[in-house]
Amino acid sequence: MTNNLQNSLPIGFFDSGVGGLSVLARFRELLPDENIIYFGDTIHLPYGSKTKEELIKYARNILDFMQNIGVKAVVIACNTSSAQAYDEIKNYYPFPIYPIIQTCAKAIAVNNYKRIGVFATEATVKSGKYSEELKKYNSNIRVKELASKNWVGIVEGVGENNDAERQQIKYELKEMLDFKPDKIILGCTHYPYLMDEFVKYTSKDMFIDPAEIFVKYIKHDLNMLNMLNNTNIKGEEQFYVSSNPEKFVDNAKIFYNLNKLPTVV
Ligand code: DGL
Repeated sequence: MTNNLQNSLPIGFFDSGVGGLSVLARFRELLPDENIIYFGDTIHLPYGSKTKEELIKYARNILDFMQNIGVKAVVIACNTSSAQAYDEIKNYYPFPIYPIIQTCAKAIAVNNYKRIGVFATEATVKSGKYSEELKKYNSNIRVKELASKNWVGIVEGVGENNDAERQQIKYELKEMLDFKPDKIILGCTHYPYLMDEFVKYTSKDMFIDPAEIFVKYIKHDLNMLNMLNNTNIKGEEQFYVSSNPEKFVDNAKIFYNLNKLPTVV
């Protein structure tokens, strides 16, 4: 397969914070040669409580930044931004943009599940994007979307991080399990970080982490477009945040090993 200069350009990933690193970690297992730029929009965290207009503005700014750096594709490693901003910005850029929800819904829906639960941020649930996309491919599917309270805060360490917060996870999970879902989609990139809590109440198999499906699709698509970077050399990585680089590195630890502080832009 040919490799050219264009293929060696980085792929941009973005999220409100460390959550998208759970996508990047899986991506890296499949495509170690790719050069990566990751942007954590930490100054605007959490995205889940922002309006559609705000989320569109943030996504435009980040995509403009990535376009200026020179990327060959962008991965929206954030459900909230995919739900609220992707449709509004997708036609403005000359490179492929991969949104997590729209990319994964088809692969999930075709499994003929009858009942699907979705935990996501308030903004994602408000958009109804998971239900809309799943029903496109399976009109009989029943979907229950629940906006989880402060789970992002727990992962980012901005909440109280006490027993009461963890009890709250139990109640929300119970409400979802009462719906008797075949599977529960973790529709926010931060939530796989809470798996240790979830498995106290149900089996790990109950959960779908869309990131797994997502990265397989991206690999497939880049391959079809002849855009993979086939060098057999580990790709380079550059990390950027909009504030608080030390906290970002600290929160990132569970899923990704950052060996230097991200650049603040
Ligand atoms: N990680 C993002 C998602 O997948 C949003 C987290 C936040 O609220 O900032 O939805």
